Amino acid sequence: MNILFMGPPGAGKGTQAAAIVNEFGIPHISTGDAFRLAIKQETPIGVKAKGYMDQGLLVPDDVTIGIVGERLQQSDCEKGFLLDGFPRTLSQAEALEEILSRLNTQLDYVVNLKVDRDKLMARLTGRRICKECGSSYHVIFNPSKQEGVCDIDGGELYQRSDDNEESVGKRLDEYINKTAPLLDFYQEKGLLRQIDGEMEIDAVTTEIVSILRG
Ligand code: AP5
Ligand code: ZN
Repeated sequence: MNILFMGPPGAGKGTQAAAIVNEFGIPHISTGDAFRLAIKQETPIGVKAKGYMDQGLLVPDDVTIGIVGERLQQSDCEKGFLLDGFPRTLSQAEALEEILSRLNTQLDYVVNLKVDRDKLMARLTGRRICKECGSSYHVIFNPSKQEGVCDIDGGELYQRSDDNEESVGKRLDEYINKTAPLLDFYQEKGLLRQIDGEMEIDAVTTEIVSILRG
């Protein structure tokens, strides 16, 4: 099954992706995670991406499309995949169509997590992430058992450098201007499924699983 998660920054894409890839045994492909890894490893792509990400701006399409094109060719994607955070522009969506048609496959579902803009700022500024496994917590909505420590592996929790009010504001604007128009693109293809992303985390997961099980 080939799935795409859409939704504004903080809608819960990463949180839900962790549960869904576990349920369906498919790889999770997050362009945000790929860029953060490249930044940590100080690769040329990481150096290029960092300035854009810290400011809350989209990384240029050519860089992003190249990363996803390479990743989708890997053999573990033959059983399906979950794309999270890509595509984010119409050019990226068109490039994805081409990549998938070359691989003789296509998207099965586009799941859009809907959350009101006024809730997203609180979600993102309170988010904490595990340095070891990347799990996402929230100081109020999804706290770890011990403050600052991951429940799964005891890793230290940190705050993303773009989870401050200024960057979040820019990310939300980028989403509205460049990414939200893609919802029509996928609606016209009959692939779009809308989910209320404001429910409890487990309730959102249950809803997504029921849609994907069709
Ligand atoms: P990326 O890493 O993709 O960030 P994003 O889209 O801004 O999404 P987030 O990771 O912030 O949110 P999420 O929806 O995953 O929310 P989460 O589950 O963590 O991209 C970062 C940057 O990389 C971009 O700004 C851009 O620069 C670059 N980039 C990436 N892809 C690109 C592309 N294709 N093209 C160009 N540039 C690209 O949840 C958020 C918080 O809410 C957590 O604390 C969580 O615990 C909590 N939460 C989750 N669900 C619930 C719930 N149901 N109720 C209450 N709290 C909840
Ligand atoms: Zn962890």
